Amino acid sequence: MESETKFVKVADVSDVPQGEGKVVHAGVKKVALFHVDGEFYAIQNYCPHAGGFLGLGSLKGTVVRCPRHSWGFDIVTGACKTNPRYETRVYPTKVEDGAVYVEVPDDGSIL
Ligand code: FES
Repeated sequence: MESETKFVKVADVSDVPQGEGKVVHAGVKKVALFHVDGEFYAIQNYCPHAGGFLGLGSLKGTVVRCPRHSWGFDIVTGACKTNPRYETRVYPTKVEDGAVYVEVPDDGSIL
């Protein structure tokens, strides 16, 4: 059975400056939200390596470096640049009326 999804408001556009990221709550999930050139990208906040908060990492272009061991993740595709066996989950986003929404599964799962 395919799980349902829903868009959840996670921030105002003004909350996330260009070129930066932030940890936000999308329902019960923690999501890493990034702002690059007017576009917003959302990925799973917990690094798949050892749980670092990707939303607190440093962003260069569309690659965020995990604050724990500096692995790089592409925030557009979720691909890990450091170890190709790993990837992080990517969530669709949309902007409406100055607010950012992230589409997450509606099943209460954390990841
Ligand atoms: S926890 Fe993210 S690179 Fe190790």
